[in-house]
Amino acid sequence: MSTNQRIYLDHAATTPVDRFVIDEMQNFFISNWHNPSSIYFEGQKAARVIDEARMSIAKMIGAKSEEIYFTSGGSESNNLAIKGIIDMHLNVPVHILTSATEHHAVIDPIELLSHQNKITFSTISPDKEGIIHSDEVIKSIKKDTKLISIMHANNEVGAINNIKEIVDKVKSKRPDIIFHSDSVQYVAHYDIDVKNLGVDLLTLTGHKFYGPRGCGVLYIKNGVKIVPQILGGGQENNIRAGTENLAAIIGLSKAMEISVNNRQKDIERDQLLFEQLQNGLKKSIPDIGFTGPKKIQQRIPGMLSMLVDGVEGESILLALDIQGVSASSGSACSTGSIEPSHVLTAMGIPNELARGSLRLSIGRMNNEKDINDFLQILPSIIKNLRSMSSQKKQFKKIESEWLNN
Ligand SMILES: Cc1ncc(COP(=O)(O)O)c(C=O)c1O
Repeated sequence: MSTNQRIYLDHAATTPVDRFVIDEMQNFFISNWHNPSSIYFEGQKAARVIDEARMSIAKMIGAKSEEIYFTSGGSESNNLAIKGIIDMHLNVPVHILTSATEHHAVIDPIELLSHQNKITFSTISPDKEGIIHSDEVIKSIKKDTKLISIMHANNEVGAINNIKEIVDKVKSKRPDIIFHSDSVQYVAHYDIDVKNLGVDLLTLTGHKFYGPRGCGVLYIKNGVKIVPQILGGGQENNIRAGTENLAAIIGLSKAMEISVNNRQKDIERDQLLFEQLQNGLKKSIPDIGFTGPKKIQQRIPGMLSMLVDGVEGESILLALDIQGVSASSGSACSTGSIEPSHVLTAMGIPNELARGSLRLSIGRMNNEKDINDFLQILPSIIKNLRSMSSQKKQFKKIESEWLNN
């Protein structure tokens, strides 16, 4: 089956690069490809183009242009934020507060720092809908808490955290604590204003909003000091060395501009298709549940997270792939057994059910027909897999605890 016949329901994993973004980027591979650090005319022209992109991104997120640092993406921005702050506090007790629903690009550097005995850390559990509450954050602050890192929107269930409220409460209790938020999924759908949010550090990446992969931003509020993690040529104001990825930086800036200008249209399409999808699934498949917030304002538009009783997520994905559908599951096969998603288990979902998770994320690649076609495909896959499964039915018993049906 050719790619254009396939149904792409994995926009939260990555998005195709917008054709206007490609047009814009091409010039920076073919003509204006020079090194922005070079002192000759073409190099200085490239440096000016980066400054313009920096200014444009800053304006769109309510920052100052010198507060925007280009990185290789969300993972690097998160690592730079966390390690960069912790390296400012050597030889003193340091505690980090984070949430149990973070992406691994936040969890893993924190766990590494802990294994290296550089920090201690605590994780805050979400509620049954996957949301982190400000009171839980405040309760967990310790005397030596130096950094709090809480994501803006979750990449598996789409739950949005009220970062402004959390930051306001943290700062009024402890203004010295540095607050970082991974806004990778949120920024892909909604406008933000970093000054209004009150964060010190914020991560975003281009490939979730139809920009190129391998380019992201770390917003660092003026006055917040961090230790660079990649040393060398002094680029990005000595915070992140490496010859700038000129075309990707231009691409990220253009993709963000297109997203900001199309917010309403994108949100309306995603929400409409989401409803069509959810209603169709409810009607056509018994014993399934939907996870994440019930209220539409508390979730990322177009992200549907569901649990299928009696089958494993990976089996559904493989069967969907054969039928031409690209989707995702929170569970992953590790060392021969299916590991349930840490996000779903943190929400209190039992391991057996969390193993049957499926994430369908809608975006610009989708239309009504895709959803209708998908609704013809999934029910028979699940019926088939269930008929082969040896797992016992237990779905109904715990239904009301956390499901959002
Ligand atoms: C919430 C979140 N944070 C960080 C990342 C990592 O971003 P990147 O792929 O640009 O490194 C992702 C991507 O999946 C994400 O969803």
